[in-house]
Amino acid sequence: MQSITRSYRILMAAIFLSFILCGFACFADLASDTVYLTWQQSPTSTMTIQWISGAEDNKTNLEYRAIDDNEWLIEKAIDIPIPRTNKYILHRVELVNLNPDSNYLFKLSDKERLYKFRTMAADLDKPICFVVGGDMYHDDDGTKSMCHTCLQASKMDPCFALLGGDIAYAVANSRSPEIIERWVEWVQAWNRTMISPDGKLIPVISAIGNHDILGHFDQTPSEAKVFSTLFPMPGAQVYNVLDFNKHISFIILDSGHANQIEGSQTKWLKTTLQNRKDVTHKFAIYHVPAYPSFRSFDNRHSSAIRRNWVPIFEKEGVKMAFEHHDHAYKRTHPLWNNKVNPNGVVYMGDGAWSVDKPRSPFFNTMGKYFAKSLPSLNFIVVTIEKGKQSIVAYNQQGQKIDEYSRVLPSTIEKIKDVEKLDEKPVEAVTARSRA
Ligand SMILES: [Fe+2]
Repeated sequence: MQSITRSYRILMAAIFLSFILCGFACFADLASDTVYLTWQQSPTSTMTIQWISGAEDNKTNLEYRAIDDNEWLIEKAIDIPIPRTNKYILHRVELVNLNPDSNYLFKLSDKERLYKFRTMAADLDKPICFVVGGDMYHDDDGTKSMCHTCLQASKMDPCFALLGGDIAYAVANSRSPEIIERWVEWVQAWNRTMISPDGKLIPVISAIGNHDILGHFDQTPSEAKVFSTLFPMPGAQVYNVLDFNKHISFIILDSGHANQIEGSQTKWLKTTLQNRKDVTHKFAIYHVPAYPSFRSFDNRHSSAIRRNWVPIFEKEGVKMAFEHHDHAYKRTHPLWNNKVNPNGVVYMGDGAWSVDKPRSPFFNTMGKYFAKSLPSLNFIVVTIEKGKQSIVAYNQQGQKIDEYSRVLPSTIEKIKDVEKLDEKPVEAVTARSRA
């Protein structure tokens, strides 16, 4: 009996060891550990799949199939050298003509690991949920804190993540070089943790932050080449719009890093929103806040955003804007013309996914704008339904720290509201909460 027990133990140990070794063989290579998803075109019918490898690995295909199909289809990856390093190559496949609201499987042709993703629905018959946050891989001692928040966020089963910049802190200050290894470590951490409860990779879309570009502010798109390679969008201008379906559009803006806030970007913003008058859910995301919870209200970039973009948001129907950079949690009251008004824009953020130390929002004359502000690491879960937007904010432990929802007025009511508001702005209120 003793020898049977001993044999059993040896067998179990051997199986366990095989599992560990297989695990290393299957997963402990850079390409497999850096697969991530993003979108360049419609999320209902496309998916952009990317991964990073060493510079010598330049012949990779990808195999994919709808989850109910048996036949694997093969796509050749485009190989793109990552700027400012000769160590890494980015591989990209954009799958097109996919079915909406459908699950797919894929794998790198020479690897064992299987991945899953889901395309977005073409309509809003079911609620759509996504997570928002920014200011992530801030630590100098690894991605542990970022992974903690990612694991909490992924538990919420979001369809995708919308990030507001300062992703890997690859450019420490305005005179620093870009540390490419930080980007690679960020992608590995994302790959490891941003997986839904049923095993789907969670796609990511990102705006640019000051720590994502050489020089931080007042630069050109050529200083943001690494960011643009990792988060491709149509065109090279860094700011963009992504239309999810006829109901939802995301306006991804550059708060003065590779492009000026005023001028051509502001002109583009106006035209882009005017061309989407019938889109109910228009969200804006960018890095530097128009309504900062920590920094000076009159700082140059926040002032420029309030002067140039905010009047356009108000008139063209943006109801929620996601802001970052200040390393705290905040949600403003709905604001119109710098005054509280139920038909105004709610600004929320403020970029503390996993920074070293969240900051304490301060209160001076700006306090009247805030419905909620906290010195808390956070991510925001946004749910979109027909005519309704809701948010729940969580801290890094997954505890709820804030909640808010609003029903959107119909198009006709919106037009009346705009006329009314232009005639007589509503007075500001000063009530605020610091809970
Ligand atoms: Fe920042």
